[in-house]
Amino acid sequence: MSERHRRPYDNVTELVGWTPLVRLNRVAQGIRTPVYGKCEFMNPGGSVKDRIGQAIVEAAEAEGRLGPGGTIVEATSGNTGLALAMAASSRGYRCIFVMPDKMSHEKRKLLKAFGAEVVIVPSDVGPDHPDHYTQRARTIAEEISGAVLADQFYNPANPQAHYESTGPELWEQTEGRITHFFAGAGTGGTITGTARYLKEQNPEVQIVGVDPVGSVLATYFHTGEMPEGQVYQVEGLGNDKIPGALDLELVDDYVTVTDAEAFRMGRRLTREEGLFVGGSSGLIVHAALERARELDDPDALVVAVLCDWGEHYLSKMYDETWLAEHKISLNGEISAPGGERDG
Ligand SMILES: Cc1ncc(COP(=O)(O)O)c(C=O)c1O
Repeated sequence: MSERHRRPYDNVTELVGWTPLVRLNRVAQGIRTPVYGKCEFMNPGGSVKDRIGQAIVEAAEAEGRLGPGGTIVEATSGNTGLALAMAASSRGYRCIFVMPDKMSHEKRKLLKAFGAEVVIVPSDVGPDHPDHYTQRARTIAEEISGAVLADQFYNPANPQAHYESTGPELWEQTEGRITHFFAGAGTGGTITGTARYLKEQNPEVQIVGVDPVGSVLATYFHTGEMPEGQVYQVEGLGNDKIPGALDLELVDDYVTVTDAEAFRMGRRLTREEGLFVGGSSGLIVHAALERARELDDPDALVVAVLCDWGEHYLSKMYDETWLAEHKISLNGEISAPGGERDG
C-alpha cells in the first residue's frame, strides 16, 4: 500500500480531487506507449463532477446569488447533481435536478438519497424545446425565489475548477512528462480547464476530445458545421449543441467512438484492470489506446480520464439483457438508435 491520507480532513469537500493516476496494463498489452487513467471515480461522489460541485456553489455565494434558505437548480445527467447535492447538504440548501428519462434509475435514486428533488423530462426533444432538460431547469430556477441555476454548461466556475485542480494534478503526477490528454466533453469543463493549464505549462501537450457517435461536437470541430444530433447510449459526454464551457481552440483533435466500443472497453477496464468504471471511461480509453498504438512511442505519456464509477450502470452496460434490448453487441456490432443525448 502506498502512503496517503496521513491526516484527518475537516469535511467531505476536502476529499475531492488529488485522484490517483494509474497505468493501464492488460488492456494496453502490446502497446509500447504508456497509457494512464486519471481515477476520477475515486472522488467521494464517484465522478469528475465533484470538482465543480463545490466550485459552483462557492462562486454563487461569493457573487451574492445564493444565501441561507436558497435553492440550487440544475440540468444534470446525475453526476453533477450528486456533486452539487454533496456540496449543498452541509450548507442546508435545497436542490432540484432535472434529468432526461434515459438516465439510469441508480442515478435518480442516488440523488434522492442525498435529499434532492428530481424532475424527469423526455430525452428525445431538441435543445430548444421547453421540455429539454436544460430549458426546464432554467424555467424552474426563474419561478422559485432565492433559486440559482448552477448552469454547468455556461458557468465559468466549471472550467476554472479544472484549471485549478485537474490540470496541476496531472502536471505534478507526470512530472511534466504528459504528452497527450484524452477527455470527453459534456459541458466541456474538464477538457477546457485542464487543457488551458497543461498548454500553459507546455504548448506541445496534445489535447484530444473523444465524442460518442451521434454527438455533434467532433463533427463541428472538424467541419464547422452543426449536424443533427443522434441518440446514443453512453452517458455524461457529447452534446447536441456547443456548450459555453467548451473552448475548442484548446483542442488539437476530436475523435469518435461507438456505444459498443465504449461499453466493451468499459467492461474490460473492470474485468482486466479492476477499475470499475462507466461507459464514458471506456469510450475515452478506447480512443486513447488506439492513438497510443499508432504513436508507438515509449517516451510519450498518454492520460485518459476515468470519469465515473460503474455502479451507476449495473442495470445498463453491465446488464446483458439491457445490451441485447438496445442491440449492442459485445462482439463488435454497432448499437441501434434508441437512447439519449446529454452533458
Ligand atoms: C460521466 C461523465 N461526466 C462528466 C464528463 C465530463 O464532462 P464535462 O465536459 O462536463 O466536464 C464525462 C466525460 O468526460 C463523463 O463521462
